[in-house]
Amino acid sequence: MKVLVIGGAGYIGSHVVKALLSAGHAVTVFDNLSSGQLGNLFPGAGFIAGDIRHPDDINGAFAKGFDACVHLAAFKAVGESMSEPEKYSVNNITGTLNILNAMSANGCKNIVFSSSAATFGQPEYVPMDEKHPTNPESYYGFTKLEIERFLKWYDVIRGIKFAALRYFNAAGYDPSGEITGLERNPQNLLPIIMEVAAGWRKELQIFGQDYDTRDGTCIRDYVHVSDLAVAHVKALEYISSRKESLTVNLGSETGVSVTEMVEAARKITGKEIPAKYVGRRPGDASALYATSALAKEKIEWNPRYSDVDTLISSTWAVYKNAKAPKV
Ligand code: UFG
Repeated sequence: MKVLVIGGAGYIGSHVVKALLSAGHAVTVFDNLSSGQLGNLFPGAGFIAGDIRHPDDINGAFAKGFDACVHLAAFKAVGESMSEPEKYSVNNITGTLNILNAMSANGCKNIVFSSSAATFGQPEYVPMDEKHPTNPESYYGFTKLEIERFLKWYDVIRGIKFAALRYFNAAGYDPSGEITGLERNPQNLLPIIMEVAAGWRKELQIFGQDYDTRDGTCIRDYVHVSDLAVAHVKALEYISSRKESLTVNLGSETGVSVTEMVEAARKITGKEIPAKYVGRRPGDASALYATSALAKEKIEWNPRYSDVDTLISSTWAVYKNAKAPKV
């Protein structure tokens, strides 16, 4: 298939591009390089510079004729979405509507969308399945849930099939070492731990040690980005061949606490990784992890790299040889 990967120069996007190319698809990346970088573009993919906020840009891209798109272009900082919601309205919601309208106008019938576990909000039970109520706690999560609703209507009215992939905590790097682009100013736990291990930051702050969990720190479901990438390929092949849309959770089904992650990182890197406990971060749920039974059943997705050791060692392999990115 000819696939347009929107946001394909970013961290998850470059892994998705590699997986699509390996499966024999023809890939073009569309990206405004706001967080992704041209140097991170995976070899073998074409490139169109453009912005989803500009209808002419995205229309012009779809006019070249694509069978499908993978849409990963979004702002994703939960905290920022609560202080600057307008950015999230325009980029995440309006940008996605521009994509869907361009798909309608140009006859593109398949979209794989990066949704998020942030659509669920505070867990009512764990592991969370797809039937768990959706009450997002952040404006970011709200944008992802709203987009899932638009996708349903464009399916009903325009026959555009979608796969909404609700990622849990994406982490790790391409185990073969072919993708090495670093995120500027990362906000997530594992890259921050790596920056401390590399000596670019003084210490890690652990948000809260009084949660009702086995060691008092929050539990999350970390899933390797190469496993996520394969899920995009399988989901695309599923929706395009069966003409049936899909919403699935993508997690590793294993909860890992913050302290467990730090201790494993100390062992693997051999670095001290200074850490201090500070107060809870507002909005953090104590434990969030998925059941991915539906993804296993529908798209035969079986994560291979999402164990803690592979998550950390594949990430450290990149950080230990890297220079701190300019912020
Ligand atoms: N944490 C720290 N110190 C830090 C950073 C994080 O203790 O400096 C803790 C957090 O409190 C949390 C855990 O590490 O308990 C993971 O935090 P992240 O910020 O890495 O990830 P979140 O679980 O908050 O959110 C991530 C994505 C969201 C997505 C969500 C789905 O950033 O976009 O996973 O589970 F919606």
